Amino acid sequence: MRKQLETLLPEIQFIGDARLRELTTRVWLEAMKQARWTIEDLPGMPFTLLIPQTDVSLVQHTRAVTLTALKIAEVLMKEYGGRVAIDRDVLLSGAVLHDVGKLFEYKHEKGKFVKSRNGELLRHPISGAAFASQHGLPQEVLHIIAAHSKEGDGARRTIEAIIVNHADFVNFDVLK
Ligand SMILES: [Fe+2]
Repeated sequence: MRKQLETLLPEIQFIGDARLRELTTRVWLEAMKQARWTIEDLPGMPFTLLIPQTDVSLVQHTRAVTLTALKIAEVLMKEYGGRVAIDRDVLLSGAVLHDVGKLFEYKHEKGKFVKSRNGELLRHPISGAAFASQHGLPQEVLHIIAAHSKEGDGARRTIEAIIVNHADFVNFDVLK
């Protein structure tokens, strides 16, 4: 499954730090195992249940958000130089993992993806951050996962979390 996941989410390989790259990969693989999804389930898994019949998958959304976040970071670093300090690896890991909790938020019922009991009780920023925490991801990455959505509104987001929050909403709003 690891090789197939690496093919589906090639942006994981952009993470320079070998340990963070491995932990990021492991969280996706272990979350799939725990939520009992197979690699074949991924292409048909929607990125949201809020846009009925969307054909954009969770994997495609994750890739687009990661690539958007990276572009934003590149522009900010080029234009503002030392005024903004961005940790590229933390940004990439957080972007790749921001929606990993959706693997727990969904269940398959009568051929459809619907909200699970877990999803009703714990939204994906919470379940994703908790799961990543169990696997030793650094706090900066947990913060991006936990704060990428409305749960982070009102909190002081790090620069990397600000970028992922906006990258996520751009990729959501244009499709709704
Ligand atoms: Fe997202």
